[in-house]
Amino acid sequence: MLVFKTKKELTEHVSALPKTNRLALVPTMGALHKGHVSLVEQAIAENETVVVSIFVNPTQFNNKEDLEKYPQTLQADLDLLSATSENIIIFAPSAEEVYDKNVKAKTYDFEGLDQVMEGAFREDHFNGVGTIVEALLLLVKPDRAYFGEKDFQQLQIIRKLVEQQQIPVEIIGCPIVREPSGLAMSSRNERLSPELRQKASFIYSTLLAAKEKFGTKSAGYVVDWVKKEFDQHEDLELEYIEITDVNTLRPITIKNENLKYRAFIAVYAGGVRLIDNIAL
Ligand code: PAF
Repeated sequence: MLVFKTKKELTEHVSALPKTNRLALVPTMGALHKGHVSLVEQAIAENETVVVSIFVNPTQFNNKEDLEKYPQTLQADLDLLSATSENIIIFAPSAEEVYDKNVKAKTYDFEGLDQVMEGAFREDHFNGVGTIVEALLLLVKPDRAYFGEKDFQQLQIIRKLVEQQQIPVEIIGCPIVREPSGLAMSSRNERLSPELRQKASFIYSTLLAAKEKFGTKSAGYVVDWVKKEFDQHEDLELEYIEITDVNTLRPITIKNENLKYRAFIAVYAGGVRLIDNIAL
């Protein structure tokens, strides 16, 4: 496994690879878990060369404390990745290497995709994500880049980004990986007490029930039902539940058989913010 810390080392290595190699990028912020490993495994299965970036991107944190609290576990991440495959390339730069002296996000117009849900609660978050993802795509020039559907809004925004910036890459969305209880895998789960971690499985069981109800009931009915379920829960506090069109991410008005919908949820469990979503 090769580990590069500078853009120069990485690009020199990648540009010397055979041009016929399909090149994949898996961008991460480290603190890796089985969800990330599944992205890396899919990338390995579908491409000859895989670059995994590990970089806690400061410009996507609107809260300094959140950034400081973000787990930095480089050695454990490298161990996990080398157990997955010896044949991957790691790019683990410093903030100065990526941003030079200008640690600042660009401003994008994602046509409203960034104004709802996560964007409404985390100001400028998606400008920061766009800035780093664009920088990594332009640096590595992969044929494919892999992102988890757990951050489905992020995935759709990245699709919009590559379309707007005309970056020739295929964006691949990969299914959410869950703990045995159903809780979506996240590095934040480590911050939950064992009891709360078990109780947080309520998020997914409620999404599953919402999916079933959506078969026969309106979106408004299902949203109100989910809100009531969380009102009655002692340990979990609902931040939002939305049912939206998968492409526009706008809340559904009238159900249309030809459109695809998804339910999105954000919940606080003992001060830890968890998100999840489900195809309906
Ligand atoms: O999903 C993440 O871990 C991050 O938002 C990403 C895509 C690696 C950009 O920093």
